[in-house]
Amino acid sequence: MSKTKILNVGEIETQKQKYIIEKLRKEFENKYKETNKKKTFHVETFGCQMNFRDSEKITGILTQIGYEEVDTEEADFVIYNTCTVRENANNKVYGRLGYLGKLKKENPDMIIAICGCMMQVPEVVEKIKKSYRFVDIIFGTHNIYKLAELIELRLYSKRMVIDLLTDAQMIVENLPSERKYDFKAGVNIMFGCNNFCTYCIVPYVRGRERSRSPEEIISEIKQLANDGVVEIMLLGQNVNSYGKNLDQPMTFASLLQRVERVEGIERIRFMTSNPMDLSDDLIEVMKNSSKICNHLHLPIQSGSTRLLKLMNRKYTKESYLELVRKLKIAIPNISLTTDIIVGFPGETDEDFEDTIDVVKQVGFDSAFTFIYSKRTGTPAATMDKQVPNEVCNIRFDHLLKTIRESSKDSDGGEINSIQKVLVEGINEQNPELLTGRLTNNMLVHFKGENHLIGKIIPVKLIEKKRFYYMGEIPNQ
Ligand code: 5AD
Ligand code: SF4
Repeated sequence: MSKTKILNVGEIETQKQKYIIEKLRKEFENKYKETNKKKTFHVETFGCQMNFRDSEKITGILTQIGYEEVDTEEADFVIYNTCTVRENANNKVYGRLGYLGKLKKENPDMIIAICGCMMQVPEVVEKIKKSYRFVDIIFGTHNIYKLAELIELRLYSKRMVIDLLTDAQMIVENLPSERKYDFKAGVNIMFGCNNFCTYCIVPYVRGRERSRSPEEIISEIKQLANDGVVEIMLLGQNVNSYGKNLDQPMTFASLLQRVERVEGIERIRFMTSNPMDLSDDLIEVMKNSSKICNHLHLPIQSGSTRLLKLMNRKYTKESYLELVRKLKIAIPNISLTTDIIVGFPGETDEDFEDTIDVVKQVGFDSAFTFIYSKRTGTPAATMDKQVPNEVCNIRFDHLLKTIRESSKDSDGGEINSIQKVLVEGINEQNPELLTGRLTNNMLVHFKGENHLIGKIIPVKLIEKKRFYYMGEIPNQ
């Protein structure tokens, strides 16, 4: 007797979208036969790793429909995948939209789409509807999987198509995706954020936290390993809260242990990790793992306990330093990187000095530094004592200098020791060299043949510069 599989809503949606992709593919193929000209597309991505991963999904759908990727905006379909974490991210998009408008005058059949975090802000959508009427498709962060359906709608209706959801209704799996690299890949383990740090717009534009099931994650990673991927980056706004909202809750530490067992995967990275709930279990798993890389991105945002409280970060200067101490004991040559915001409302000289103090004590290998940007709708936007620009700029420069001076001379291994390196490509400055990465994320440049790209190979470290090594392939 044949069994009927009962599909859940996500699976039904996947089938629907695959049907539309196939329908469009046939139409595109027929057009191609008539004109002998393939339709082209270009995706421009702004923002974080999550957006870059989303763009791989967008590229996958467009490629399956039959569009061909080009690297300029002079294409038949151009899509901007936007970021809104800081105001200058918005300004970049508005600036470039003006240019797209001009291109569309020359090619009236061009389709212009905008998606991503900026589109989850209603005022932004209003502005685009009013001032950038040439935009064809607008959608947000929760419905990328619907891209083919939205293109179909636009082709038939000839009107601006807007599809926005305030929160995700389901996780839609198994749609096409076109990865940027053959040997390393990002894997979403969760979406959204529940932390509501008071400066941050992410929880409003990416919605509440949702974890993918461990089965889906492991099956995707197995498939990647089969395709030759050796390094994966697990992605989430705060990976440490992974699994809390699953039907059968599980921790990030135990997910990592399952990922570690996937044969073929040799390196595991993850981001981002909130210091608030980084568990001792996770430190233990990192310590005992031969695959998890010696690198942790641990955003501190500020070194002042008073400001951290106003930011709703739920840790203190002391507890952050204690966490770093534990990590360094467990994994002695761990490389630590961080994010820091300068000029959060009410930041005093003393608060800023606390940040400088933490930077000096930890010795981060590198840090992403940001001047606070007011995001309408977040609690910090209405806080008193916004810090004047001149003060922010002075503090920012001082911070950069301190980071440079205190960055611990990162340790990827002794000179003359042989270390494992993932060969990532041809050196950008000197095409006679290859560039690869050590487990702690430091770069190594060395002579080698192009067929090594994408492989993990032994490299002898021969000279140490401040932020990278020169190496050579040892004699067999
Ligand atoms: N202003 C400045 N920086 C911000 N970030 C998030 N929101 C803001 C804001 N409003 C920074 C934080 C976060 C990183 C991704 O962006 O440091 O970790
Ligand atoms: Fe924003 Fe805080 Fe969530 Fe990170 S943890 S995405 S900073 S709200």
